Amino acid sequence: MSLIDSVPLVLRFTLVAAALSLLSYALGVVKLEYSLALAVLSITPLVVFIIKGRLRFPSLRIPVSTSYNGLGSVSFRILEVEVKARRDSVASGIAKVVSDRASRGDIRYVLLSVMEGDLRRSLIILTSRDAGRLSVEAEVLKSLLSSLVEDIRVYDVNIPELAPLASWALEARVHSKGLILVSESTLSSRHPFKGGSNDGSTRIYLGEVLDKPYPKPFALEGRDLEGHIGVFGSTGSGKSTTLSVLAERAWYQARIPVLLLDWTGEHSSLLKARGLSFKEYNPATGEAAINPLDLSKDIDYLVSVMVKALSLSPPQAYMLLRALEQGKPRNLRELEAVVEILSEESKWDREVKRALLRKIGMLTRGSYDAFKETRGVALEGICVIRLDYVRNVLARKSYALFTLAGLFMERASGVEGPKVMIVLDEAHNVFSGEEVAFIEQLFSESRKYGLIFAIATQSPSSIPNSVLLNTNTKIVHALRSARDKNVIAETMSLTRDYIDILDKLGPGEAIVQSPSNPEPLLVQIQLVNEPGDELHQPLVQGKPVNPNPGIPDIKSS
Ligand SMILES: Nc1ncnc2c1ncn2[C@@H]1O[C@H](COP(=O)(O)OP(=O)(O)OP(=O)(O)O)[C@@H](O)[C@H]1O
Ligand SMILES: [Mg+2]
Repeated sequence: MSLIDSVPLVLRFTLVAAALSLLSYALGVVKLEYSLALAVLSITPLVVFIIKGRLRFPSLRIPVSTSYNGLGSVSFRILEVEVKARRDSVASGIAKVVSDRASRGDIRYVLLSVMEGDLRRSLIILTSRDAGRLSVEAEVLKSLLSSLVEDIRVYDVNIPELAPLASWALEARVHSKGLILVSESTLSSRHPFKGGSNDGSTRIYLGEVLDKPYPKPFALEGRDLEGHIGVFGSTGSGKSTTLSVLAERAWYQARIPVLLLDWTGEHSSLLKARGLSFKEYNPATGEAAINPLDLSKDIDYLVSVMVKALSLSPPQAYMLLRALEQGKPRNLRELEAVVEILSEESKWDREVKRALLRKIGMLTRGSYDAFKETRGVALEGICVIRLDYVRNVLARKSYALFTLAGLFMERASGVEGPKVMIVLDEAHNVFSGEEVAFIEQLFSESRKYGLIFAIATQSPSSIPNSVLLNTNTKIVHALRSARDKNVIAETMSLTRDYIDILDKLGPGEAIVQSPSNPEPLLVQIQLVNEPGDELHQPLVQGKPVNPNPGIPDIKSS
């Protein structure tokens, strides 16, 4: 219970005691001096309360609604900063002190700027699970601010409505060492911390719209996350960064589990650099292994996946079909043995057989552990499969395709599971090639089983057109090849203005189109998680400051 809550009790006690003393004087029970002494005594608790209330508010322990994933109770303190003289040095001074404190430990800070009528209020919320440390930290911060920054006054305020924000802040992923900057516009009804509703939980914040008079937050909405996402751009344009931002936010903002097929190991490093926890699988040691012969009882399906994975020619595919039908092999080694003893009717047959065995041999030698037996992946949080540990590139591509086919077949056979975002960078490595039937089916049907792809490629013209058309959300970074520009301009129906800037976009800038935003928009993908159209605005009015050099400054439009 907060001190404020006890006001009526203190007041009641004071009034009753004062009334009693006056009544006893009126009835002649006591003399005037005694009655006055009693009255003074009775108002003492109220005076003490007022003084104490002004000096220090105790930290509040508030129960947190269950929608915050069982965080339990958190403690928070709110400090208001009153700026007596508006100067740039005041804003940067406050930001510096706060970001310095925020980088120290497990106390989470929120700098909040809100308008109340014409008045802009600047609040600092400190939140932690440790009420004792929080109390000490609040006092330290107050005295540091008062001594280091001139012309300000810092005092405690009690705004219970900010409890959901405080508990959200404690759980939110931030890269700025414990410091979150929010403005009132961030406190829109769509945000999970407003009112504790889950309405906003299917949004994934991407960044800021640049081609509007003011930067405006851009997010993928629920219905955008019902379809596939394609990220395109020339080398160095920001595709991998965007994909890892999507992977991170799919889980942390929308609670969609992520299966990330990491072709080069780059994503594992990116996620680690962002301090995220994820589960990593090494297929080369048999983790998340998939036996392609387990894929399906439907031999035609199996052949079509293997044709794609191993780039089989039609005669090789036919021979594979014969082997599967005649020998009923249970794994790749048995398949090899069956193919080996297939009858050869001509020299031509013999050559086809050798070629087929050579291709299967790429999987059974060196990387066999990745294909020996099917072991599942627990689809929870962010799962990264390190494809780069499968050294042979054909085996790596095959492994990726078998994994996708396995997931697809599992769902298609009626096994229910959560919505999953499958993240695949350098998708041309896996999808390009002649045989597209399996990929087409994968892309057009997986959506209905809750499998959502987020793919990236530098070469949209080299992936099957059906894949391109099936990416309902397109995030297009700088594209330099005329061929790729044409393909994208055509599929997105871009206007001349957008086509002209396609090759001039800076890193992280993208033209984005999605079902909820069918008109293309120019967006700067933000690495800082917190949405808000004044994300990097300062705590107090004045020139925008960047309190933490780790946060990139907002791009001015
Ligand atoms: N949204 C962003 N904000 C700021 N910097 C970015 C952003 N996206 C990418 N960058 C920077 O641009 C550089 C290239 O990014 P990234 O590796 O993601 O590009 P890529 O398109 O995947 O390149 P490649 O084709 O070589 O794989 C990196 O140094 C990265 O830090
Ligand atoms: Mg990349």
